[in-house]
Amino acid sequence: MQRDAAQEQKIIHGIVIEPMCKNDVDAVVAVERRAFSAPWTEGMFVSEISHHPLSYVARYEGHVVGYIMVRIVFEEMSLMNLAVDLPWRKKGLGEALIWHAIGIGRRTGIERVILEVRISNVTAQNLYKKLGFQKVGCRRNYYNDPTEDALIFEHGTNRLL
Ligand SMILES: CC(C)(COP(=O)(O)OP(=O)(O)OC[C@H]1O[C@@H](n2cnc3c(N)ncnc32)[C@H](O)[C@@H]1OP(=O)(O)O)[C@@H](O)C(=O)NCCC(=O)NCCS
Repeated sequence: MQRDAAQEQKIIHGIVIEPMCKNDVDAVVAVERRAFSAPWTEGMFVSEISHHPLSYVARYEGHVVGYIMVRIVFEEMSLMNLAVDLPWRKKGLGEALIWHAIGIGRRTGIERVILEVRISNVTAQNLYKKLGFQKVGCRRNYYNDPTEDALIFEHGTNRLL
């Protein structure tokens, strides 16, 4: 048990990555509103952590500075949400959050990770490409506010071994 708890917690230069809990939701929503034009609501976060409890926050001195939310269905992990708060960007935290989630997924036997990203979100696409994700498709008008296509990216985790 102790070993599992330790594996759930990753510390990088004062940043701790650990499971998101309901007490984090207010801080997470604040980061979300700064990060997205069509942010998730408080209810969406509460529902996600209640029904799909693979959500993690990155904290610095107790404050939420980023988060990642994933779901696993059989061998596939879906990246549902990811954000790093503005002052903490470009420091490797987005990358660390994705590796953290993939690490947990690999322990449960996932074979691939899939995600959607706005076609205009070149920053996030660069991050995914850097980690070895490949563009595998497009969903027309997938997003609202503004209406926009989604690119689908995939990573086969056997390429990470
Ligand atoms: C996308 C996001 C999570 C990246 O987080 P981050 O902590 O800044 O990313 P990292 O520091 O780990 O960067 C890793 C790589 O991503 C790419 N990247 C990150 N910021 C970038 C920028 N401003 N411009 C271009 N590429 C960028 C680079 O390839 C970078 O590698 P490098 O530092 O070796 O150049 C962050 O910008 C964010 O929260 N954006 C708003 C929310 C969002 O778009 N979420 C993703 C939805 S699909």
